[in-house]
Amino acid sequence: MVNENQPSPIYVIAAHPNWRDSRVNRQLHTAATTTAGVSVCDLYETYPDYAIEIQAEQAKLEAAQLVVLMHPVQWYSMPALLKLWVDEVLSYGWAYGQGASALKGKDLWLVASTGGAESSHHPQGYNRYFFDAFLPPYEQTAALCGMRFLPPMVLHGAHSAPAALVAEHVSTFRERLQTYPHWPELDDLADCVACEVPEQDRPAGEH
Ligand SMILES: Cc1cc2nc3c(=O)[nH]c(=O)nc-3n(C[C@H](O)[C@H](O)[C@H](O)COP(=O)(O)O)c2cc1C
Repeated sequence: MVNENQPSPIYVIAAHPNWRDSRVNRQLHTAATTTAGVSVCDLYETYPDYAIEIQAEQAKLEAAQLVVLMHPVQWYSMPALLKLWVDEVLSYGWAYGQGASALKGKDLWLVASTGGAESSHHPQGYNRYFFDAFLPPYEQTAALCGMRFLPPMVLHGAHSAPAALVAEHVSTFRERLQTYPHWPELDDLADCVACEVPEQDRPAGEH
């Protein structure tokens, strides 16, 4: 396990409100914490009072090249504490906006699980949309910060997936962490587009 205080090229923010009920993310969490070069924040354990240490989180992000958001999908989005983390840590003037460059050139990777099967994420399924339809908020968050949004790693049907499939998923995740940034699909990935926020879109008096 990596010393929490050492700079790490990979920072995993693992957000699960109830690890005891977890079948998939708990195993991914174990894989991340036992892989060299990976720093992991168990978000709900670290901030049970929702008092996120913004500067400490920003320092972890600055030290990382790959930022991983790892969580079960809840209401087509991320768990509440992770959303608060995004709201507070990715601040104006640091993560995005005039002159902000702290995250520019870094990579953001979503590693998520869903209860619904892949077939439910379909116009004819009960989730009515392909799963990709829920990704633009993540992708544009990355873009606004000058980050590349890497192809997400998603396990659908987390409750009913065969144990062997879950084990394979966890093993692929570990292998990905170990081999980053040498992933074949990254060669073809375009650099991030520039997204500048005009001053009139900010509260008066803020710079
Ligand atoms: C409050 C809540 C909301 C959820 N919303 C969704 C959802 O929108 N789509 C979905 O497919 N599964 C949803 N689920 C199911 C979780 O995604 C699923 O339990 C999780 O991915 C399983 O991973 P785990 O074994 O690590 O807990 C939700 C679960 C909870 C508790």
